[in-house]
Amino acid sequence: MLTAPQVDLIQTSVNAAVSARQTLVSDFYDSLFAKAPSVRSMFSTDTAAQSEKLAAVLRLAVQKLDDLEALVDPLHSLGAKHAEYGAVPAHYTAVAETLVECLSDAVGPDWTAAHSQAWNDALTFIARTMLDGADMAATRQ
Ligand code: HEM
Repeated sequence: MLTAPQVDLIQTSVNAAVSARQTLVSDFYDSLFAKAPSVRSMFSTDTAAQSEKLAAVLRLAVQKLDDLEALVDPLHSLGAKHAEYGAVPAHYTAVAETLVECLSDAVGPDWTAAHSQAWNDALTFIARTMLDGADMAATRQ
């Protein structure tokens, strides 16, 4: 469902954002906690570990988005784990909005509406698949 140009926009924007903004990861958590204060207590206070998790998500975006089918099983498992952390659909919206804002801030004037669209499509797929995994795990219990 992502086109090849969209995958390319996502990949180049991550690389541009990471090289432009050393503080990308901490900016993301600062703005996520400002937007959705209730999620703060879900995260450990170990910011290095949190950073590693966001970095893992960005790596996923860079490496794997050209084969979404291969992501379905791992995202189902990740979603089931997130239900245990307490993540609900509104949290996914807050995470997606925050990530797109931070990336566009970091990329600056080169960011276009097509970047926003590509990221929104990717994050919608990721969130929907994770939430499906959470539902499937709940039904099994
Ligand atoms: C874009 C969708 C998301 C992706 C791809 C993602 C990815 C990840 C990954 C890879 C981990 C590490 C998992 C592990 O330890 O095995 C993680 C942990 C975590 N995620 Fe997410 N996540 C997403 C959305 C969310 C949302 C919406 C919330 C709720 C606010 C959330 C809260 C957490 C928490 C609380 C942890 C554990 C943190 C800790 O141990 O301190 N995530 N996430």
